[in-house]
Amino acid sequence: MENEYNLSLHKEKQDLSSDQLLQVIFDYASKIANEKDLDRLLMIMADMGREIVVADRCTLWLVDQNKNELWTKVAHKIDEIRIPSDSGLVGHAVQTGQPIYIDDAYGDERFNANVDKQTGYRTKAILVIPIRNNDGEIVGAYQAINKMTKAEKFSEKDLRTLTLAASYTGKSLESALLAHEIEETQKEIIFTMGEIGESRSRETGNHVKRVAEYSKLLALLTGMSETEAELIKMASPMHDIGKVAIPDSILKKPGKLTKEEFDEMKTHAEVGYNLLKGSNRKILRAAAVIAHEHHEKWNGQGYPNQLKGEEIHIYGRITAIADVFDALASDRVYKKAWDMERILNLFKDEKGEHFDPELTDLFLENFHSFVEIKDQYRDDS
Ligand code: C2E
Ligand code: SIN
Ligand code: SIN
Ligand code: SIN
Ligand code: FE
Ligand code: FE
Repeated sequence: MENEYNLSLHKEKQDLSSDQLLQVIFDYASKIANEKDLDRLLMIMADMGREIVVADRCTLWLVDQNKNELWTKVAHKIDEIRIPSDSGLVGHAVQTGQPIYIDDAYGDERFNANVDKQTGYRTKAILVIPIRNNDGEIVGAYQAINKMTKAEKFSEKDLRTLTLAASYTGKSLESALLAHEIEETQKEIIFTMGEIGESRSRETGNHVKRVAEYSKLLALLTGMSETEAELIKMASPMHDIGKVAIPDSILKKPGKLTKEEFDEMKTHAEVGYNLLKGSNRKILRAAAVIAHEHHEKWNGQGYPNQLKGEEIHIYGRITAIADVFDALASDRVYKKAWDMERILNLFKDEKGEHFDPELTDLFLENFHSFVEIKDQYRDDS
């Protein structure tokens, strides 16, 4: 009964605020980016899941195709557990591809209490989310156990947040399992961070992919090297990461923002910068600059620092065009997508005002290439 006792001691925890959530994600993203060993990586990912949903435990189960089993090395205190791949709640989630979200495991017939028997642990609330690889095959599952807040159960929001994490760890996991393409994985993490920022404003994951591609294309058009263009591509998805700190009432407001609301919205540039600036990693340093300067304007009337012309870092000037093009070409909670004619006119008007005139020319001369990228990463596909 020692476990029951320990459990009750910890039920005072609170759900994470938006800032804490962002901090947790940020802390783990850099750890994950630096970790090349699969076992430790799984631990880190499990710990991140645990903190995100404020669970007592979080486990990453992996499918062993050869043995038709699920295995994990990350259960806290236990080295390795194996269960048949159709057993229990995790088995059920893996077989059906559906997440599971229950308040008391013992009231659910799919629950296999054998693991509890082996470990002496008392499972109550459970959240299980299948993880898919790039091909959409299920490669494992995230399983969070026992909610440590007063509510003692996982919420809709926990399900959403962990689902988001799971949808990206799936891709990363596969590359780690193959022990290849660590660099690819680091890119995924960067996207994950960006998409978590965007997801709260209900923009689709494709938004950050498109902004990344537009930014890279613009970088290449200015004559930057492939390496630097790739750096911008990896960093630009994080331009709006600071939006995680903006309340839903503003972020998801269907209509126009009041002046006060917009003032608060504008803090996302500074917030994002402050979170990213501490890193020495190249990609994150570029991301910090981009988060900070993507809303500065060539004419000095942007925010947060009213930088002017070439005072604005070239990465900021590039991302500004990519971000606005994508915002205009997409539906947002507060506006419908614009047609291409209207978008072209805005860029012509804003050349030398909002946007760097040389970059604007390159953008307009190659407009069809940007439209191609847009069509390739459509929101409905
Ligand atoms: P976002 O939706 O990603 O938009 C990025 C930028 O695209 C905007 O930066 C703006 O420069 C441009 N943009 C987007 N929609 C329009 C438009 O309808 N007309 C024009 N001329 N430009 C547009 P901005 O203005 O600094 O806004 C930053 C963020 O603030 C936006 O990111 C969005 O999340 C939010 N936001 C801005 N206006 C509204 C609004 O009226 N309602 C709501 N709910 N959010 C808004
Ligand atoms: C935090 O880092 O803000 C809290 C983490 C946790 O309690 O799980
Ligand atoms: C089981 O105990 O059912 C296996 C893992 C889980 O679903 O809790
Ligand atoms: C991850 O991105 O979450 C895992 C990193 C890796 O697969 O190397
Ligand atoms: Fe922004
Ligand atoms: Fe954006």
